[in-house]
Amino acid sequence: MDFKKQVVSSLQQVLPIELTAEQLTALLEIPKNDQMGDLAFPTFILAKSLHQSPVKIATDLAEKIDQSKFEKVQAVGPYLNFFLNKQQLGEQILKTVLQQQAAYGEQDLGHGGNVPIDMSSPNIAKPMSMGHLRSTVIGNSLAYLLTKVNYHPIKINHLGDWGTQFGKLITAYQKWGSEAEVKADPINKLLAYYVRFHQEDVDHPELDDEARAWFRRLEAGDPEAIKLWKWFREVSLQTFMKVYQRLHVEFDSYNGEAFYNDKMAEIVEILEKKQLLKESQGAQIVDLSKYDLNPALIKKTDGATLYITRDLAAALYRKRTYNFVQSLYVVGNEQTNHFKQLKAVLKEMGEDWADQVHHIPFGLITQGGHKLSTRAGRVILLEKVLDDAVELAQQQIEQKNPSLKNKAAVAEEVGVGAVIFHDLKNERLNNFDFNLDEVVRFEGETGPYVQYSHARAQSILRKAQALDAKPAAATANIAIAPTADTWSVLKQLNDFPMIIQRAVKEYEPSVVAKYALHLAKAFNQYYAHTRVLEQDDQLTSRLALVKSVAIVLQEALRLLGVAAPDEM
Ligand code: ARG
Repeated sequence: MDFKKQVVSSLQQVLPIELTAEQLTALLEIPKNDQMGDLAFPTFILAKSLHQSPVKIATDLAEKIDQSKFEKVQAVGPYLNFFLNKQQLGEQILKTVLQQQAAYGEQDLGHGGNVPIDMSSPNIAKPMSMGHLRSTVIGNSLAYLLTKVNYHPIKINHLGDWGTQFGKLITAYQKWGSEAEVKADPINKLLAYYVRFHQEDVDHPELDDEARAWFRRLEAGDPEAIKLWKWFREVSLQTFMKVYQRLHVEFDSYNGEAFYNDKMAEIVEILEKKQLLKESQGAQIVDLSKYDLNPALIKKTDGATLYITRDLAAALYRKRTYNFVQSLYVVGNEQTNHFKQLKAVLKEMGEDWADQVHHIPFGLITQGGHKLSTRAGRVILLEKVLDDAVELAQQQIEQKNPSLKNKAAVAEEVGVGAVIFHDLKNERLNNFDFNLDEVVRFEGETGPYVQYSHARAQSILRKAQALDAKPAAATANIAIAPTADTWSVLKQLNDFPMIIQRAVKEYEPSVVAKYALHLAKAFNQYYAHTRVLEQDDQLTSRLALVKSVAIVLQEALRLLGVAAPDEM
């Protein structure tokens, strides 16, 4: 519920001149101190048109306004101060959460519309980078958020599984590789062959000819080339799957670049028909100068098609297959230009849905303020990151709760959750530094802190049960004294649906992550100052608040793709 709306509609009933809800909302102020109420309406704006002093206007309004909706409405000087009826509102908020439970915050913004999300999309035979991790967890959270507001997301892993590099890889494998080696450690071995290829072709340029020949065979569907390619793809995907499983991310489609091999001719045809293709130094390009962009390179001199040509085919395929209302690409901001070109070419082709295509860019993960770089030895290996995070989580659990059951399983949830949360709490476009110790701390702005707060709420509810005390039901009376600590928890709970809406509108999971931190903080503050389990007539009401916090924290974590263990 929107407190401002309440004030605005009450004002509209008594104002002698007409002001729109937007105008009034913009005028409302939040008083600096509690004594002046929760929201204040400054009356200066009316003075001129009413030919009255602001003080008189405020006094008049205070007399006329329907006071019953508020604890009180008071004129102080030129201001009309509104005091919310916190007791009543608090009861309403808790009832809503308790009644709707995990469905709290659901709303229909999407009317069931399809939204393909291009996410993760690592390259075959190369390690998955931290950039791919970001794409994976941001895309996954956006999928949960979109579902919550009644869109239908389709998670697509647009694997980098085609290109001239496969000619090189096959050549290198034939010369220096072995099946057993690849089986034992697929990605690292394939990468090593590839790196060796680039070292040796400096002195042996004939290697490049061989690689080109292999790639031609691959494009022509030569069985031997296809067999190796399929195998490289499969073993790479198996390695990626291990990471996806640990992150609990599933995809609806693994149609990678190769899937569009037979779908690009149509794109070239359309471009030709519309006379958009121009020859430039033997290559085929689309001029985009009217968009202030470099030309899009559609076909290389040797006839090979390119990354953008595949993306054009993919965009069209997705429109036809899913008839989407929006099509998202969660890809690092270094590819911003590529997606601008993609949209521009689609527009040139006359596809009126080009405006529904959105690149959702994100920033870099750095270490010690430096860009990660394979050459400088600043690589972060994803699986190692997850293992180390879980190890750190295990150590802390060992200290805090040595008798915990399922320690290993909880440590996995906490360690992996910490890495995901850390990634998502940062605004998408910000670069951020990765320091594992900070990521896994149980205190501070971390995932484990939120998880721990949720587990604390659950533990209070368990203790209550042992005392035979239950949270008030959604239908019962809930009478909670609205102290400052209580009210700040209630206000956060009330904000959740609006937070989800904002996160979806801005494609920004960090809005939810930051919210979860604020709610956890407010709850811990409340808990520190309140004897929740005291046997008095407000016990069931306080438990209702604790339960509502547990519900909303769990749901916020779920929307981020982070587990919420009941105990830790
Ligand atoms: N494989 C690419 C990379 O690692 C990302 C692909 C993004 N998706 C797309 N449709 N272009 O850089």
